[in-house]
Amino acid sequence: MTTPHLDPHLVAQLSLAGRTAVVTGAASGIGAQAAVTFAQAGADVVIADTNVDGLEATAERVRALGRRATVVPTNVGVKAEIDALAAAALAEHGRIDVWANVAGVIRYSTMMDQGEADYRLIMSVNLDGTYWGCVAAMNAMKETGGAIINVSSAGADMPAPMISVYAATKAAVQMITREVATEGGPFGIRCNAIAPGFTDTPMVAQHFSNPDGSIDPVRREAIFEQRRGQAPLAMTGEPEDQTWSMLFLASDAARFVTGQVLRANAGVVMP
Ligand SMILES: NC(=O)c1ccc[n+]([C@@H]2O[C@H](COP(=O)([O-])OP(=O)(O)OC[C@H]3O[C@@H](n4cnc5c(N)ncnc54)[C@H](O)[C@@H]3O)[C@@H](O)[C@H]2O)c1
Repeated sequence: MTTPHLDPHLVAQLSLAGRTAVVTGAASGIGAQAAVTFAQAGADVVIADTNVDGLEATAERVRALGRRATVVPTNVGVKAEIDALAAAALAEHGRIDVWANVAGVIRYSTMMDQGEADYRLIMSVNLDGTYWGCVAAMNAMKETGGAIINVSSAGADMPAPMISVYAATKAAVQMITREVATEGGPFGIRCNAIAPGFTDTPMVAQHFSNPDGSIDPVRREAIFEQRRGQAPLAMTGEPEDQTWSMLFLASDAARFVTGQVLRANAGVVMP
């Protein structure tokens, strides 16, 4: 079998060689894979999360690719910690070319039973974390330009029970994305969002985990089967199905793209 020829000009548009990418939520799931995908494209990465063991595991995967990984434990719900993340990235790498706000949490409740602590947690991570992450990235990129990628959700486009706070934050992420695109454009800053459909990560494993944290394989298959049944492509996603979109949005191949929401979701939602 011959190796297909990839035109160097095409590959160059998707390359992140020589660039620095900050990724939040990088200890797990989509964020961990985003750090790896960006490193595969040639970037050095600065990775942030509250889960330090998970960050170290991601850093090892990045270093195995021959790229630098700087670990910065960060609670994105605290603006001062996001500012410290940006400062650490600039101190270590001298510039920030890509900033991906991936950290997120979900908690399930009907609106009538919604507790205030969970409400505040979801708002703080998903909304405050994304907003102040964008602000820190814009300030870091205002001389050089750059690409910001936010993470919305299919849940932002489709009302569903039990996720009212989560869905509200993910709808807000789409509007923050357009605001950043509007104010950042004159500085050469692009901002886009992905809105993932059901993607196999620890976040969705909550649906089929036992109280001891182990996975119930029968419940898992039933949920995956149900999700496949809702999708025109009859698929659920892997983290790479999101990070390939993120790479496109981070790269020069998307130089004409800003303020948009890219929905890798097997066609489940087409707003
Ligand atoms: N998996 C899906 O099906 C799906 C669908 C739509 C959207 N999303 C979104 O994708 C993003 C990544 O989710 P995932 O599926 O990889 O889940 P995940 O649970 O595997 O990863 C989320 C990461 O965010 C981190 N995090 C949580 N609170 C934090 C905080 N305060 N500060 C810093 N880091 C924090 C967690 O430690 C974890 O590493 C989230 O924004 C999520 O809402 C996921």
